Amino acid sequence: MFTHLQRLQIVIFQAVSGYVAVENRCPHAGAYLHEGQLSGNILTCHWHGWSFDLKSGQCLNEYWARLKRYEIQIECKKLYLLTEELNNR
Ligand code: FES
Repeated sequence: MFTHLQRLQIVIFQAVSGYVAVENRCPHAGAYLHEGQLSGNILTCHWHGWSFDLKSGQCLNEYWARLKRYEIQIECKKLYLLTEELNNR
């Protein structure tokens, strides 16, 4: 699922490690990540095949590339998205 928050477009994946929210843009060339392929905790971008570990946001192809991740809290079967970027903490 993905949503727009002001200018931000965020996609939420249900990975093996749980729900993960990331900016819906690949740091390589800007592809929409919601069109990527998810396998376990690894998301592969559909444009050029870069892969990302959703638990850390780290790109497995280029050390400098990282997804912008956002915190999710689950309460009473509802997902709450906290818009402060996790990478800044
Ligand atoms: S835009 Fe995602 S790998 Fe190139």
